[in-house]
Amino acid sequence: MELFQIISYILLFLLLFFLIRLVYPFIYLKFFVRSQNLQEKYDATWALITGSSSGLGLILAERLAKQKINLLLLSDDLESLRTQCATLRKNYPAIKVESLCIDMSQPVEAFIQRIEGELQKKPISLLFNNVGYMPVFDFASSEWNQVESHINCTVTNTIQLTHAVVNSLYKRKRIGAIVFTSSIMSFIPTPYSTLYSSTKSYISAFAQSLAIETKKYNIDVCVVQPGPISKTNFLKATGIDNFDKDPFVRLLYSFSQTPKQIINLMLQSIGKFTVIGSSPLWGLVRAFQLVCGENIILYILTKTSTLWGLGRSLKKKSN
Ligand SMILES: NC(=O)c1ccc[n+]([C@@H]2O[C@H](COP(=O)([O-])OP(=O)(O)OC[C@H]3O[C@@H](n4cnc5c(N)ncnc54)[C@H](OP(=O)(O)O)[C@@H]3O)[C@@H](O)[C@H]2O)c1
Ligand SMILES: *[C@@H]1O[C@H](CO)[C@@H](O)[C@H](O)[C@H]1NC(C)=O
Repeated sequence: MELFQIISYILLFLLLFFLIRLVYPFIYLKFFVRSQNLQEKYDATWALITGSSSGLGLILAERLAKQKINLLLLSDDLESLRTQCATLRKNYPAIKVESLCIDMSQPVEAFIQRIEGELQKKPISLLFNNVGYMPVFDFASSEWNQVESHINCTVTNTIQLTHAVVNSLYKRKRIGAIVFTSSIMSFIPTPYSTLYSSTKSYISAFAQSLAIETKKYNIDVCVVQPGPISKTNFLKATGIDNFDKDPFVRLLYSFSQTPKQIINLMLQSIGKFTVIGSSPLWGLVRAFQLVCGENIILYILTKTSTLWGLGRSLKKKSN
C-alpha cells in the first residue's frame, strides 16, 4: 500500500471516529435510556439545588419533587423562593420543601456557616450546582468588587459547598451525585464577560477531575454544558436593557433549547456520562475549534467583539 493510501485511511478512520463520538451520546440517550429515578438510584432523601428560584433550577426542582425527593432550594431572592416553595408544597404534599435565601457572592466564611447547619440536619445526597449569571463589564475599568462577587458565587462558594456535601457523603458512607451546570461557553471566549467563560471552564475542569476521584466512593459527578436556553432569566440578569433583542443574541438564541430539554438530558445522563454537551451545536463548536485552533478564533473575536453581543450593548450603554 502506498503511503498516501495509508494516510487517507487513517484520516478517514479519525473522521468517522470523530463523527460517531459526536453523535453517540445523543443517540444512546435518545433511544436507549429512560429518565432515571434518582431517589431509587441513590437512595436519596434530600437534594440541594443552587439557583433554583427560576429557569433551569426551578424545572429541576419540579422533576425531583415528582420523584419524591425532599428539596432544599437556594437562591438570593426571598420573594420568588417563597412563591416557588409554596407552589411545590401544594403540588407535592408528600415531600418537604425548604428554602435558603443566601447571596452566594458573600464572604466564604459566612456562607459555610449558614450551609453547615443545614447539612447537619438534612442528609443531602444530590447536589445541583446550578447557580450562575453572566456579569457584563469591561475588565480594565471594572471595580474589584464586581470581579470578586462573581468568583465567590460561581467558584469559591460553589466548590466550598461541593466539598461540604462530598465530605459528608464520604463520612456517612453514602452514595450520591454532584451535578454542575456549566456552559458551551467554557470553550468560547466571552469578551466583556471575562469571568463567564473562565469560571465555566473552571467548573468543567474541576468536575472532571472530581469525577475520577469520587468514582471509588460511588459518588457520580456530572457536568452539563448547555448552549443557549430559552425561557429563563439569564439574559435579563445581565442587566442590559433589551439584550434579548440584540440581533446577534437573537441569532444565537434561534438555536436555543428549552429548560425541560436540558433537564431531561441531565436526568438521563447522571451516572452514565460525566461531560454532557446539550445539542449538536455543542459538537459543531468543538469541531470548529479543533479545525481553526484558538488563535484564529481569537483573531475573529478581537476584530468583531464591539460589533455584536455584549461588546455592542456595552458600547451603547456607555455612549
Ligand atoms: N440561559 C442560558 O442561555 C444558559 C446557557 C448555558 C448555561 N446556563 C447556565 O444555567 C444555569 C441556570 O441559569 P438559568 O438560565 O436558569 O438562569 P436564571 O433563570 O437567571 O437562574 C439563575 C439562578 O441563580 C440564582 N442566583 C443568581 N445569582 C445568585 C447569587 N449571587 N446567590 C444565589 N443565587 C443566585 C438566581 O436567583 P434569583 O434570580 O432569584 O436571584 C436564579 O435562581 C446558570 O449556571 C447559567 O450560567 C444558562
Ligand atoms: C468574597 O469572599 C472573600 C473571602 O471570604 C471576602 O473577603 C470578600 O469580601 C467576598 N466578596 C464579596 C464581594 O462579598
